[in-house]
Amino acid sequence: MSEKFLNKPFDMVIFGGTGDLARRKLLPSLYRRDYHTQICNDARIVCVARQDISRGEFLSLVRESLLQFIKESEFGEPDWKQFSQCLHYIKLDIVIAEDWKSLTHFLNQQPDHVRIFYLATLPDLYSTVVSMLSGNALINDNSRIVLEKPVGSDLPSAEAINADIAEAFQEEQIFRTDHYLGKETVQNLTALRFGNSLFEPLWRNGTIDHVQITVAEEIGVGTRGQFYEDIGALRDMVQNHMLQLLCLIAMEPPSTFDNNQIRTEKLKVLQALRPITKTEVKEKTVRGQYRAGTMNGKPVQGYIDDLAETRSSNTETFVALKVQIDNWRWSNTPFYLCTGKRLAAKVSEIVIQFSPVAHSIFPDDAGELKANNLVIRLEPDEGIMLSLMSKQPGPAGFKLRSIPLNLSFNQVYQERYPDAYERLLIDVIRGEPALFVRRDEVELAWQWIDELIRGWATAGMDVKGYVAGSWGPADAAVLIARDHRTWHYALDYQ
Ligand code: BG6
Repeated sequence: MSEKFLNKPFDMVIFGGTGDLARRKLLPSLYRRDYHTQICNDARIVCVARQDISRGEFLSLVRESLLQFIKESEFGEPDWKQFSQCLHYIKLDIVIAEDWKSLTHFLNQQPDHVRIFYLATLPDLYSTVVSMLSGNALINDNSRIVLEKPVGSDLPSAEAINADIAEAFQEEQIFRTDHYLGKETVQNLTALRFGNSLFEPLWRNGTIDHVQITVAEEIGVGTRGQFYEDIGALRDMVQNHMLQLLCLIAMEPPSTFDNNQIRTEKLKVLQALRPITKTEVKEKTVRGQYRAGTMNGKPVQGYIDDLAETRSSNTETFVALKVQIDNWRWSNTPFYLCTGKRLAAKVSEIVIQFSPVAHSIFPDDAGELKANNLVIRLEPDEGIMLSLMSKQPGPAGFKLRSIPLNLSFNQVYQERYPDAYERLLIDVIRGEPALFVRRDEVELAWQWIDELIRGWATAGMDVKGYVAGSWGPADAAVLIARDHRTWHYALDYQ
């Protein structure tokens, strides 16, 4: 059951208000939450952007986006009419001081509203926005700022942004998003680990041989090419989403669900990550870039052609890593991370591969005794699967077979999984920071990533091409095979 109007009246200012993120995620999520009566009547959502458009044109744009990004069955004229009453548009070029007057006037009409500034812009603009907000005296104790990832593009730039923002906002007022933390299945990792006594005694080296975290995407870089070219898969996906998943799997149990305790436990994992040095990058990492290929039966072009203007590029669209955590629990239990665009299927999963039994009592002709694994599927078909050995039924001798114990959350709950942004936006509105990333987490993650990037540069590690629609460069299979292991996705989805 939705909780009604738990939040106070608020104004949410979305910078980049007509951009891709606002149209694809933020506005559809706010519409859905409004439908579920969680946006109170006095709320004002104001999109700001440089275009000179009328309110009517802006509303048509939002309506079109809703029709494109939510299901037809979720859209209704009365609901749209209600939602559109909260929507406002203000033309504003962030760097032009004069342009801030209308926004200032608008916000000052409701001085008691909670003020949320959502920065859905490029990170280069974050510091300017904050200095303009301060200069126009728009920040008060009731204000919050939301920063989209990536916060910076390396440690120095992240530190600079964090420092600028800290001059105007207290850490509790700063919400750094990593939308993976808003996914139901990711939140469920905490329930799985700490809501069941079953797993905790096994959750360590010795019983766990290794862990695999895979986030494979079918999409290419689409229209984000120029942005992506400066970023690459390591900064786009590993620095944030993949390291957050790793932290949730590897962290020690916090003593309470308190948001700072959880974030402190994640921080300890980041502190224990073994740096991948320049002498190790070739053995422990793989960089790939997609070439033309076939996706779902249709030809698709390669990354360079997707960029339109650039003719050559050494930016990775695929990365595979072997990561080690130097602490008591995980020593000698590697984590293998793999993510890429234009791969064979959209799959996000975490595989906990248990160690083989210490001693087999079975005769040689009983078949292979496979080690158990626990597959936590984030996408598609969210759920968990535990592989178990069993005796194959039949009178002809004793034959072993690995069978899955499969749990599909969709079948159990039969409810729509809210989009990650629905949860995150409501948390910002309520001032709940648990699912947002703290400053020290962001900076430590960058520190680790920066060393790896320096290693790539020193070792002259260029990208390896892979055919769109494949599972990435052959070197990724070699990386894990060196440790006599195999990618789970390669077994399951090929
Ligand atoms: C974003 C990345 O943070 O996450 C994109 O910038 C990526 O490149 C996206 O496609 C993946 O998110 P999801 O929720 O589709 O797995």
